[in-house]
Amino acid sequence: MKPDVSASFMTPWSRQGTPPGPVFSSASGVHLRTSDGQRCLDLSSGLMCANLGHGHPTVIRAIRQQLDALCFVSPTLQNDSRMEFSRRLCARAPWPGDARVHFTTGGGEANDDAVKIARLITGRQKILCAYRSYHGTSTGAAALTGGSRRWASEQSAPGGVVHFFAPYPYRSPFHTPDRTEEVHRALDHIERIVQQENPDNIAAILIEPVLGSDGLVVYEEGYLSGLRTIASKYGALLIHDEVMCGFGRIGEMFASQRVGVEPDMITFAKGVTGGYIPLGGVLMREEIARIFDGVPFPYGHTYSGHPVCMAAGLGALQAYDDDGLFVRAREIEKWLGSDLAEIQRNIPAIGDIRGIGAFFGIELVRDRETREPVVPWQSGDQTLMSDFQAALLSRGIWVYIKFNLCVIAPPLTVSQKDLQDGLQIFADVLAEFNIRMR
Ligand SMILES: Cc1ncc(COP(=O)(O)O)c(C=O)c1O
Repeated sequence: MKPDVSASFMTPWSRQGTPPGPVFSSASGVHLRTSDGQRCLDLSSGLMCANLGHGHPTVIRAIRQQLDALCFVSPTLQNDSRMEFSRRLCARAPWPGDARVHFTTGGGEANDDAVKIARLITGRQKILCAYRSYHGTSTGAAALTGGSRRWASEQSAPGGVVHFFAPYPYRSPFHTPDRTEEVHRALDHIERIVQQENPDNIAAILIEPVLGSDGLVVYEEGYLSGLRTIASKYGALLIHDEVMCGFGRIGEMFASQRVGVEPDMITFAKGVTGGYIPLGGVLMREEIARIFDGVPFPYGHTYSGHPVCMAAGLGALQAYDDDGLFVRAREIEKWLGSDLAEIQRNIPAIGDIRGIGAFFGIELVRDRETREPVVPWQSGDQTLMSDFQAALLSRGIWVYIKFNLCVIAPPLTVSQKDLQDGLQIFADVLAEFNIRMR
């Protein structure tokens, strides 16, 4: 017997058969709307992808026009939208020289392909990734992922991935309260791993330049540049996974530009179309792309450079530029910084707040001294946070929650008033959960 009607489909990442939550049927700006007319403020841009808010007319128009003109052509043939979008995208890449792009359907596939490219062109096997990371759920990307979302996919995970600890000052894996010392120890740790794993067999270091859903960590100055130095020293490539932190999320088109470190490849997805249409890709330095001028590029997907996805990307790029959204997160950062600090003063369950741009994480703890998370990190009973998330939804707020971490990442179009109202409701619901969180 099916427990309820929602059991006709599998809800990703969720226990199945639980009572259905609100059913969404439309959206506009920063609000989602349920089929019975309730409004819900999207404080996490869906899954940190609706950077442009919902229903942006420029993107919708671009998609509609493309649907009328050309829906599909083989990816081995040319289409005008792919030519135009890739030209515009590459012109904005963070490298002073030229760049080229390979398109995929999403972020996990982009990481799979970036890693395959790195292995192919270096002739080396091993990829170094952080334990606190999420890189996707395809077989390859799941193996790259450091957190517990890897575990269920490991039955067929390919080898050649070595995980390392990256800085995380709130719960330092390097046992130091000093952030600068943490960076030194973290770089020493990864360099020892490189030595131990055979420096001649390290193809790439892959990292989210701002750690997203597996902890929301903004790396201290010196860490990412240190990784750059180590990668170059040992002839490995540096790949930035900007699937979540790219496309204006931290106040520049690419996060690499704000953190001031040049990787060799950037993987992207989500914000590239504002989440309107699935699209991902790998941006690479021209020197890497050029290797395949003489030999076939051995990777591709039916939907690589799909005309409708390309049109959505073009429309999104136009919308980001027209509305000044690539840098708007810097303004939102100021609002979030001060509003969340104010909320933290009154709510003991908030252990730590950290973030950059429109990308903030709130860690909920039972005790600020011991920093014990309100629910176990990685695995264990998550009922408390599921109840908290459901209570937020019932009050008209969507917040992405992973274990004891709440990610506040509103659309870059959010007004200060909407953000403040949403954070006030978040704080009210948190206060109601105070006793259960002790
Ligand atoms: C940093 C990062 N990389 C990769 C992915 C996987 O992207 P997708 O779900 O499009 O495969 C995600 C998804 O959340 C992500 O946050």
